[in-house]
This record gives sequence, C-alpha cells and structure tokens, in this order.
Amino acid sequence: MDAFVIKGGRRLSGRIRVGGAKNAALPLMAAALLTDEPIVLHDVPDLTDIRSMTRLLAELGCPRDDEDAERPGRMRLRTIDRSLIHARYSLVSTMRAGVCVLGPLLARRGRARVAMPGGCAIGQRPIDLHLRGLEALGARIELEGGDVVAQAPHGGLRGARIFLGGPFGSTVLGTANVLCAATLATGTTLIESAACEPEIVDLAALLSKMGARINGAGSPRILVEGVDALGPAEHRVMPDRIEAGTYMCAAAITGGELALENCPVDALMALNSCLESVGVGVQTTGGDDPMRARVRITPARTLRPAMVTTQPYPGFPTDLQAQMLAMLCLADGNSVVTEKVFPERFLHVAELTRMGARLYRQGPTVVISGVPGLVGAPVMASDLRASAGLVLAGLAARETTIVRRVYHLDRGYQRMDRSLASLGADVVRVDDRDLDRIDE
Ligand code: EPU
Repeated sequence: MDAFVIKGGRRLSGRIRVGGAKNAALPLMAAALLTDEPIVLHDVPDLTDIRSMTRLLAELGCPRDDEDAERPGRMRLRTIDRSLIHARYSLVSTMRAGVCVLGPLLARRGRARVAMPGGCAIGQRPIDLHLRGLEALGARIELEGGDVVAQAPHGGLRGARIFLGGPFGSTVLGTANVLCAATLATGTTLIESAACEPEIVDLAALLSKMGARINGAGSPRILVEGVDALGPAEHRVMPDRIEAGTYMCAAAITGGELALENCPVDALMALNSCLESVGVGVQTTGGDDPMRARVRITPARTLRPAMVTTQPYPGFPTDLQAQMLAMLCLADGNSVVTEKVFPERFLHVAELTRMGARLYRQGPTVVISGVPGLVGAPVMASDLRASAGLVLAGLAARETTIVRRVYHLDRGYQRMDRSLASLGADVVRVDDRDLDRIDE
C-alpha cells in the first residue's frame, strides 16, 4: 500500500486546474443504463471510484467502448445487454456510489438486484430514503441475502409525489436514484425535499440532453414528466468543488498563494465565506462562467478562528469539514466545528491530536483550541476526506508526516501528490513496506 511522506513547512504557490467532479461523474455514468444509445462524457476524472463504477457498469451490460489514450477524460458508455441486473457486493462495498445504479436499472429493465452498501468509516449510511422513493413510484422491494431486490409493476413505474427528507436533510444519491427512475415513469413525479447539490443539477442537465423533462433541479422541489424513452447525449462533467476547496484550504494552511482554473466558485459560497472570515483572500479573477472561473487565493496575515457547521448544500459541505478543521488547528483562538450531515465523521480528530492539535470532541461537535504549530507524525485515516485533512496538516507541520493508506485519497483526488509537488510541496509517494523497513 502507498503512503505519502510529507516534509512540511513550505508555502504552496502556483496554478492548478480543477478536474471533473467524482461525485457528479458517478451518477452521470449510472444514467447510461437508462438508454441503449451511447452516452459520451468529458472531463471524467481518473480515480479509483470511477474505475470501480466502470467495472460495475460493464458487469451490468453497459461497457465503456472507447479506450482512447489520446483523449484522457473522455468516456463513452453504451448498453449492449439488458438482461444483467445484479450489482454485486464485492463492487458496491468498495464504492458506495454503486447504489446509484438502482434507479436506472429499475426504470429501464424493470428490475434490479443491488447489494446493500452497508456502513462505512464515516457512519451508518442507510438507504431507506432511496427505497422509500422508489416504492412510491410503484416498485416492490425486498431484501434477499444482503441484496436489495427491486421489481417494477407490470406496465412500469408510475409518477408519484415523493418526500425525500430524512433526519439529516435530503439525500444526494437518493435524489439521483429517484430522479433517474422518474424520467421513464408514466406521468408526473414531484420530488419534495430533493437534494439541491450542484451534482444533482449536473445530472438533470445530462438527463435533459437525453430527452428527459425535468424542472426545478437545484431546488428542493423537482418536477419530472415521464417520457417513453431516452436517447444519446454528450456532456462535460462539472468541475469538482471538493477538489477545488481542498486545494484552497491547502494554500490557506501553508500561508500560500494559489490560482485555480476551472473552479466552480459559484458552488463554493459557504467555503469562500468561511475562508474570508478567517482572513484568507478569495478573489474571482476571470472566466465568464461562475462554475468554471479563475480564482486567486491569498494568505491571511494571521488565521482567525471560526464557527463552522456542515449542512446540505448550499451550507458548508461535509466533504470539506476535515480540511477546514485541520486549518483551524492553527488559528489564533478557539473554533467550533459541528457536523450535521454525518455526525460520526471525525476520524481525523485523533490523528490530528497526535500532531499536536488541541481538540475536544463532544458528539457531533469539536472545539479547536488553536496552536502556533503542528508537528509531523505517522498518521492514517480510513476515510477519503479525513485523509485529505491529514495531508493538509502535514503540509503545515514541522518535520515529517507520513500519511498511510493513501488509496483512500486515490478514490477522490487525481494524483494529489503530484499536484501538491507542482505547487512546491515536499510530498513523495512511497510503498509503505519501504517505510516498515526504515522503521526497523
Ligand atoms: N441518509 C439517510 N437515509 C438515506 C440516505 C441518507 O438517513 O436513505 C442520511 C445519511 O446517513 C447522512 C445524510 O442522510 O446522514 C446525507 O447522506 P446522503 O445520502 O446525501 O449521502 P450520499 O448521497 O450517500 C453523497 C456523496 C458524499 C457526501 C454526501 C453528502 C457521492 C458519491 N457521495 O453521499 O461524498 O459526503 O453526499 O454531501 O456523491 C465523499 O466524496 O467523500 C463523500 C462521502
């Protein structure tokens, strides 16, 4: 397994282009199951989760048929076999987003068998809202051997009024599932308390190009008029707001300056407001499209403390909580971070403490007493974003930090070590067996 060895203390500086969004690309790929025509996607990031989804779609008779090394980021998917309906546990367990094949399979093939994703490092992660939504469209759902077995009624799914709110707000992938299913249902579907995340807007944009009739995506109330069939489409995946936000925080924690290109600044208002409140400059310097802008990050003279509460979009994203928390460890005063989307998502807290951070957790809230500096240490976290938070802490810490199990990072960041090195960081990827030999 690979690890990052980070020698901290260098200010980041330079330019970076934000890649296509993992969390947009995964449901966009699953939407290819809704038609027999080709779906062409651009700006698809080269990540482990994307490769897992490609494998899953191939197992479901919708292979990628364009391995074209000349054009990285382009992906063409086309359904060739509609008899395959089983998304196996071995794939869904490595990548929870595998669950978003459920809605498309049910809508187009009338049935689906998808392994229950189970919990993961960031909490319990049930899918009751997905299932409730699909049942409202007429599906019969049973559990068999750990799989969700779903069957559409004779004559196909029927439009319905569906409420997708849960104890922690709406559900992003649940909204994606119900939205996809509703495009081919008979009649009108109203999704109330739908997720408003920009990734849902991107999915609705692709579905509309395929011929779906959707209104209100991006608001809590989405209206879908079912159609008989969907056709081919070509679409560019939106830029990754979490990747952009992670590099913004990386610049801020090292007191660096960074220019971002292809930055979805319009989808990052909560982060920007937070960065500005701690003293970091965020300036849009160009680009006509606020979802693909040029943005400049300038350092704070002194990092001020902040109160941050994660919430569904447009609130502060849970996927940037660990990165922000790492930064606040170095603020001049006490900060408070509260997690309202995944209340258990704090794997980084114990590890940051090993680096000298002063953190006090009580349930979903962490009080951070800022310290003047962090000290490098060997650390590890089995969650993608927690690992990103640890890398950021390592960039700012004195001496050497070793972040183990970076395969978690590879699920969501395209070669983060290379990107950070290109900005002046001292980060090297090593095989952690070599580290063990050094330790001995
Ligand atoms: N929830 C339920 N019932 C459900 C579904 C969700 O109670 O049926 C709860 C969850 O337990 C959680 C909250 O609702 O407390 C929100 O979960 P949601 O369903 O919105 O999460 P998701 O769709 O499974 C996506 C992203 C996550 C991101 C969350 C929240 C993808 C592939 N994943 O997950 O991204 O944290 O939305 O914004 O889009 C990541 O990229 O590191 C990541 C975990």
